[in-house]
Amino acid sequence: MDHLKRTKTCGALRAADAETQVTLNGWVDARRDHGAVTFINLRDRFGITQIVVDAAGSELAGSAAQLHNEYCIAVRGTVRRRPDTMINRDMATGEIEVFAHEIVVLNACPTPPFQIEDETNAKEELRLTYRYLDLRSRGMQRRIALRSAVTFAVREFLTAHDFLEIETPTFIKSTPEGARDYLVPSRLYPGKFYALPQSPQLYKQLLMVSGFDRYFQIARCYRDEDARGDRQPEFTQIDIEMSFVARDDVLSLTEALMGHIFQKTLNITLPASFTRLSYDEALDRFGTDKPDLRFDMELRDFAPHARHAEFSAFNNALAAGETRQNAAREQGITVQAGAVKALVVRGKADYSRKQIEELEAHSKIFKAKGLAWMKVTGTKEAPGLEGGVAKFFAASAAAVCTDLNAEPGDLILIIADSDAKIANTALGAVRSKLGRDLGLAVPGRFEFVWIVDFPLFEFNDDEKHWEAAHHLFSYPQEKYHESLERDPGAVKGDLYDLVLNGYELASGSIRIHDGALQKRVFSVVGLNEQESDQKFGFLIQAFSYGAPPHGGIAPGLDRLVMLMCGETSIKEVIAFPKNSFAESPMDNCPSEADAAQLAELHLKITS
Ligand code: AMO
Ligand code: AMP
Repeated sequence: MDHLKRTKTCGALRAADAETQVTLNGWVDARRDHGAVTFINLRDRFGITQIVVDAAGSELAGSAAQLHNEYCIAVRGTVRRRPDTMINRDMATGEIEVFAHEIVVLNACPTPPFQIEDETNAKEELRLTYRYLDLRSRGMQRRIALRSAVTFAVREFLTAHDFLEIETPTFIKSTPEGARDYLVPSRLYPGKFYALPQSPQLYKQLLMVSGFDRYFQIARCYRDEDARGDRQPEFTQIDIEMSFVARDDVLSLTEALMGHIFQKTLNITLPASFTRLSYDEALDRFGTDKPDLRFDMELRDFAPHARHAEFSAFNNALAAGETRQNAAREQGITVQAGAVKALVVRGKADYSRKQIEELEAHSKIFKAKGLAWMKVTGTKEAPGLEGGVAKFFAASAAAVCTDLNAEPGDLILIIADSDAKIANTALGAVRSKLGRDLGLAVPGRFEFVWIVDFPLFEFNDDEKHWEAAHHLFSYPQEKYHESLERDPGAVKGDLYDLVLNGYELASGSIRIHDGALQKRVFSVVGLNEQESDQKFGFLIQAFSYGAPPHGGIAPGLDRLVMLMCGETSIKEVIAFPKNSFAESPMDNCPSEADAAQLAELHLKITS
């Protein structure tokens, strides 16, 4: 193909190139026949160039007529300035066109299963089946290119800050991150398995014991959990670990890293530091540990009003909460009180019964017992309350409205529960839904927030035992060391999440570096000495050899790029993602193994 090898890309030519001879290679994006001339938009990764084929009836015109979309072709021709009236300011190459002398089809193409457009509206399954075609779209090309630029910026920044990029194995002994492991059967050791890492957590901690001091890795992680918009069975973390640091060192390093990435790739200057909220405050004000701060609409405490009213659903919730809390206190255990929380939806007093019922149904998914409502009427000076539970609060309408900062025309939504966490999370879910439904979040804005002081443990109500809220290696804050076993629910850890626009972008913690403390944490979650030795003996042993204090974090690369692109699915920023059922429809993966492979691996399929 020597004389047809491109001399320029399809995005390169400008007015200054007029009258030069060029060869372009690319795909037919569109062909328009205008009788005397045919226009072909030729596309490659770098852009689109308009090709002109003249002289109807000539051999060249004949071959141009044979071209269809997505043919891969080579064009030799002369660059011409377009007449002034034909200049296209929306195209980088819009000042010129290439007058074709020769067109060669490098490869033909049947009618594609969907049109390659900037953003296709083809069904996802079809896009994934023909992913190699889907990836030709301008949108996918732009997003994959941004991902590459982000990865480069990460390496550039961290390397400049003394971090070493170190690979850790992907055939490992299981590292628990709370999901199911993918297992790889061992041929050499019948009945034994490697696990694919849910993250490089233990290895990066061991690298600190080894004195590498500052580590990072663009790390592939594998988790067998149900896929969602922001989750894939395999995904990528920007995995980071540092020695001799306290929490704020990790936070400021991460802020600077994000600042560098956004500046370098989107030319956006982020604030030098991000807002910080404690976990308790985030739950209290936004009903979630992943608040979207692009809009306010905070949860308000409605208990003082509830206490003065005769609405039994509210008062019973508060009373039951108190009883539960007193009983727990006698056993030296901390539990949440009850709560009545309110949300003011600006200007939505005209919401229909049906719309409110939809919100109620949503709140019930998050264990709310109901969603009470009332509408603000009257005037600003003399507001009234109407509908729903208004009759219980009509007498104190002015006080309620002043306290909640509610105005005529607003809708007030209220949830009461004997467990404040349920009231908060359910109303927080309503807040998030309203944020989406009403388009409250300004697109193109990036609102980062740190959530700090997470609980170290969570009680698993189904299985009736304590589990690590993050993972087992996070450091309990010093003031809780004494009460660790007695009152696990009260223990706060040196854990932090970085949240961006309502998504958990990164998670990390200061780690335990002391074997004895690590063993105590294992025992709280019900791992006895023997089990913890069997699973994590190597870590405890490593800690005994002068482990340094250390901590780290892992931003999800897929989620980061997804949010930078304004997308809501990480599939849009992964070249070859799995579908929602963890399959790849393109190559039919997962697929059966043949009998010989199974025999070699000592495996039998039983169902
Ligand atoms: P964690 O489990 O919170 O922490 O994961 C860190 C970040 O990884 C991203 N992430 C995912 N992205 C896509 N699909 C998934 N299934 C998925 N799961 C997680 C998220 C998340 O914030 N070892 C610890 C980190 C540490 O303590 O340093 C860890 O893996 O963006
Ligand atoms: P009821 O008196 O049980 O018919 O409830 C009247 C209204 O209060 C309904 O709209 C319920 O959804 C709502 N409601 C009931 N329990 C609660 C609760 N715990 N929190 C908020 N609203 C509730």
